[in-house]
Amino acid sequence: MGQRVRRLDQLLGSLGYCSRKEAQGLCDEGRVTLDGQPLDDASRRVTPGLVRLDDVPLDFPDGLLVMVHKPVGLVCSHDSSEGPRVYDLLPPRWLHREPKVTTVGRLDKDTSGLLLVTDQGALVQRFTSPRHHVDKTYLATLDAEPAAALIAAFAAGIDLKEGDAVERTLPATLKLLGDRRAEVTVREGRYHQVRRMFAAHGLHVVSLARTRFGDFELGDLSPGAWRALPLTPQ
Ligand code: URA
Repeated sequence: MGQRVRRLDQLLGSLGYCSRKEAQGLCDEGRVTLDGQPLDDASRRVTPGLVRLDDVPLDFPDGLLVMVHKPVGLVCSHDSSEGPRVYDLLPPRWLHREPKVTTVGRLDKDTSGLLLVTDQGALVQRFTSPRHHVDKTYLATLDAEPAAALIAAFAAGIDLKEGDAVERTLPATLKLLGDRRAEVTVREGRYHQVRRMFAAHGLHVVSLARTRFGDFELGDLSPGAWRALPLTPQ
């Protein structure tokens, strides 16, 4: 429950419900309650977890962390000129929240699967910093059956071109599943990393889906759906 006491107008504004000015209008219309009692003054200091708007508790007043099942074809950018966005799957007011809601790292437009979305900058930092290696597991379908020798090659690390330099990836775990399918777990988040690792061995990734990110598993979450996660201690 949101225990940090704040002015109601600031609270509704920072959670994207309305502008701070409009908050008084919502109070005047009798749409806001505090612990079940109508609230008529938007400058009142309130405990966020006790506030309801239209009899519904406020979304994640203490910070937001959700898992989204990103479908193929959506971009992780905020810029809608790059195509339909994963943010378009979420309640529009979340885009007006402060702090800003962002994805934790990115998936390519052509990659589906588990994507974390949060307003917790420290959490983004922790999960994407090169110093903290978070395991990420992907299911890849390839254009040909991979040779068993690829398991050892991935375990040794794959040399990838990064600008003018060549940098070896950290050891990755590869499981061959048959039918041109493979499960790969990497510990970094380099640009197009999984596709480039297979390409280095002459294999094209036909489809790619992330099934795990650190301790989080996609499970049976449907494509396009999201679900809330507990905010882990930082
Ligand atoms: N590796 C890729 O090639 N693409 C992704 O989206 C994620 C990992």
